[in-house]
Amino acid sequence: MQKVIGIDAGGTLTKLVFVNEQNELEFKIFPSNDFSQVRNWLENHPHIEEIGLTGGRTQQLLEVLNTMKSIQYLVEFEATFKGVKYLLKKDGYDIENSIITNIGTGTSIHYMEGQSHTRVGGTGIGGGTLTGLSTIITGISDFEDITSKAALGSRELIDLFVKDIFQGMEPPIEGHLTASNFGKVSILKDAKHEVNDLLATVQALVGEVITTLSIQFAEEKKAEHIIYIGSTLINNEHLKKVIANYTILKKHKPIFLKNCGFTGAIGALLNKLEQSKITY
Ligand SMILES: Nc1ncnc2c1ncn2[C@@H]1O[C@H](COP(=O)(O)OP(=O)(O)OP(=O)(O)O)[C@@H](O)[C@H]1O
Ligand SMILES: [Mg+2]
Repeated sequence: MQKVIGIDAGGTLTKLVFVNEQNELEFKIFPSNDFSQVRNWLENHPHIEEIGLTGGRTQQLLEVLNTMKSIQYLVEFEATFKGVKYLLKKDGYDIENSIITNIGTGTSIHYMEGQSHTRVGGTGIGGGTLTGLSTIITGISDFEDITSKAALGSRELIDLFVKDIFQGMEPPIEGHLTASNFGKVSILKDAKHEVNDLLATVQALVGEVITTLSIQFAEEKKAEHIIYIGSTLINNEHLKKVIANYTILKKHKPIFLKNCGFTGAIGALLNKLEQSKITY
């Protein structure tokens, strides 16, 4: 295992990455509300000498680590971009320009063109909204529980679709599109809602808002591709399906990278390796 690691201390999760004995990237996730777990991990890996660091909670993490190791900080957007470039190549993509939508605790949207990138916008609707709303509505707060149950749910009795409004008429847009997220609840007043259905509907709300915004930026920038990243997509096939279907319907190409949650940590690691002139 190399003596360098990359860490992305995010709003909810702290992601850690290093190059293992097999010369492959290995990943760890810690909750950002308990940095002592990161400190313990480092104490158990005393050969780590250098840390590439990024993320909004960098300062808070440094205060807990209180370490003498060599630290190299990289601003989050730069680290994410570096990580995305690396993963695109690793996953076999050759894309010149694209929208990058990072679904973290909140969502940040960027435009990349060649070697440059700019932040074009974002929304407070993100992974934190998914877990927060799910907890308040169903009492379920565990991310894996939320996503696995959502995958079994149906939105039919909760979301109001275009076809529900234009009954007996030809709708002006595709009938299966959402007219109003959760819009059927106040119309079908007596319906009982199952937990799985509620969770599926929350995921769709979050996914559709993020996709709608991403598509608008893709059209403004004339970008064919939208790369969706962030830990909210980890093992979350249901959310990916919502996002992919809508992106494709709007004539854009969605890309989901294999290690979508770790772009920032990978960027921070690569940056530190470059600074220390270590090849990987
Ligand atoms: N094990 C997990 N525990 C909690 N949330 C998880 C877990 N795995 C995935 N998630 C989801 O990932 C989201 C956080 O994504 P990510 O790690 O990309 O954001 P972040 O870097 O912490 O936040 P930000 O970039 O906005 O500062 C959570 O809000 C949740 O929806
Ligand atoms: Mg993040």
